[in-house]
Amino acid sequence: MTEQRVLEIKNLTKYYGKFLAVKKINIIVETGTVYGFLGPNGAGKTTTIRIILSILKASSGEVRLFGIPVDRSNVHIHEKIGYIPGDVALYGHLTVKQMLNYFASLRPGQPSSRMEEMIELFDLDVTKNTKALSRGNRQKVAIVQAFMHNPDFYIFDEPSSGLDPLMQQVLYDLIAEEAKNGKTFFISSHYLGEIQKIANIVSIIREGEIISTMDVSKLDQQVVQKVHIDFKSDVDPSLLQDSNITVLSQDKNELILIIKGDFNSFLDKISKFPIEKFYAPEPSLEDYFMHFYDLKRNSGVK
Ligand SMILES: Nc1ncnc2c1ncn2[C@@H]1O[C@H](COP(=O)(O)OP(=O)(O)O)[C@@H](O)[C@H]1O
Ligand SMILES: [Mg+2]
Repeated sequence: MTEQRVLEIKNLTKYYGKFLAVKKINIIVETGTVYGFLGPNGAGKTTTIRIILSILKASSGEVRLFGIPVDRSNVHIHEKIGYIPGDVALYGHLTVKQMLNYFASLRPGQPSSRMEEMIELFDLDVTKNTKALSRGNRQKVAIVQAFMHNPDFYIFDEPSSGLDPLMQQVLYDLIAEEAKNGKTFFISSHYLGEIQKIANIVSIIREGEIISTMDVSKLDQQVVQKVHIDFKSDVDPSLLQDSNITVLSQDKNELILIIKGDFNSFLDKISKFPIEKFYAPEPSLEDYFMHFYDLKRNSGVK
C-alpha cells in the first residue's frame, strides 16, 4: 500500500503558459530506495521537484508524499524531507552558523540533531559570512541543512553541482550509508555516471517525458563507451564496425567510436592495428540516447 510509497506521482503535467514542460509523468519511489531522476538540462527535472514540494503548482495530475496528496495546506510534511535546491541562494548578512540556525528554526518539530556532525563531515567553516562563500561552499551549506534534521526522505536537485570530487565522494558515501539505514532518496542529475554510482532505480526524463524507468543494473548493461583512437596509419572503418561498434566520425586516422556491451571483443579488433593515441571520454547523455533510443541523430559529434 501507500505506506511503502514515499513518493507517488500520477500523470503529472506542467505548462508554463503554452509551453509544455512536463508531460504526464508517473513515478513511484518506495521506502529505502535511491531513485535517480536522470535527464539533460531543460528536461523538466527542477519543475517536477518544485511541484513535489508545492513550490510550483501542477497543471494536472497528482503527487502524494507519504501517501498524502500534496498541496499548500499540508506543507508540514516537509519537516520529514531534506531538500537541496538546484539553485542554492543564500542571502543576508548571516554567518553560515546563523544561516543554519535559521533553517533549523523553520522546522520547529524536527530538532537539528545532526548539524554539528554534518558541518564536520563536509568540512564547512561556519564562521564565514554566507555572502562570501564560493559556489562549492554554498552547496555544502545546502547539503548540511538537508541532512541536519535527520529526515526520512531526501529530495536533491543536482546535489553534486559545484562540489569538488572529494566532497562529491563524501556525499555519495553518506547517501549510501543513509540508504542502508532505510532512508529514501530522490536525486536529479544530468550525469549518467553519477546515477550509476549512487542510485538503485532510474527514470530517464527527456523533453518533459519519462522515456524509461529501470533498475540501475540494467542501465549498467546498456551503457555505452565512447572511444577516440588515433591510429598510426589508415584504417578502413568498415573493418571495425559491427553491431556493437558504431563509427561516429573519422578524420583521417582519427576515429571516434561508440561501443556497446562487451569491451573485450572491441579491444581484440583494434589490437590488430597500430595505435598512436587512445582515450575514452565520459559518454554524454546524448551519446546514450542516440544509441539506445534513436532520438537524436543530428546532434553532431562531441
Ligand atoms: N518559469 C518558467 N517559465 C517558462 N519556462 C520555464 C520556466 N522554468 C523552466 N522553464 C522551461 O521548462 C523546461 C524544463 O525546465 P527545468 O524543469 O528547469 O529542467 P531541468 O531542471 O531538467 O534542467 C525548460 O525548457 C525550461 O526552459
Ligand atoms: Mg534543473
